[in-house]
Amino acid sequence: MSHRVVILLSGSGSNFAAIAQAMRDGRLPIEICAAVSDRPDAYGLERARSLGITAVSVSPKDFPDRASHDRALMAAIDEYTPDLVVCAGYMRIFTGEFVQRFADRMINIHPSLLPAYKGLHTHRRILEDGGTQHGCTVHYVTEELDGGPLVGQAVVPVLPDDNEDTLAARVHRAEHHLYPEIIGWHATGRLTLIGGAVHLDGAPLLQPVRRSYVDAQD
Ligand code: GAR
Repeated sequence: MSHRVVILLSGSGSNFAAIAQAMRDGRLPIEICAAVSDRPDAYGLERARSLGITAVSVSPKDFPDRASHDRALMAAIDEYTPDLVVCAGYMRIFTGEFVQRFADRMINIHPSLLPAYKGLHTHRRILEDGGTQHGCTVHYVTEELDGGPLVGQAVVPVLPDDNEDTLAARVHRAEHHLYPEIIGWHATGRLTLIGGAVHLDGAPLLQPVRRSYVDAQD
């Protein structure tokens, strides 16, 4: 039976598209059951519809508070009985109840080499700091924002004439390789979280797996 995946997104959905492409190419033994967004107008939902993948929106505007919105989101996801919930540019902070519901089976991609640059505007901040190495990180989601156990990172250089857009684009292209690869590990049973510790191929992962991309191609 293939691995049932629900993808959460808020924006353009380029990571969603990369994952869907890998699935369609037969590189990823998963079934994307649905793309779910907090934003009814997210371009990622349009991408899903155009691929014949169910697109669902659960807008916070329809709920009095964060707790009730997250409960509705939880119910929407539960309908698909996912083996894995993949956050791909979902830009809201989850309640503890939500995180508990999908503990051990929810991962996120963040545009920095965590634990550096948690939070927003990661590309701008590393440029301001004059950093030379940037990238993205896939981690399990816990209640600590951008703080869950690390699984893998893709490293890209910061080039002397980079601006926020060129750097973001380079990180994005790396994300499109790293995320499908790691989802594949979960789908084939290679990646698990045991007692809060990441295991790969049956052994505790002491450091996140690192990939290096000078300039990945989509
Ligand atoms: C990605 O760069 C992802 O790392 C980031 O949002 C972007 C979504 O792009 N996620 C976060 O910042 C989460 N804290 P996409 O919609 O084109 O996949």
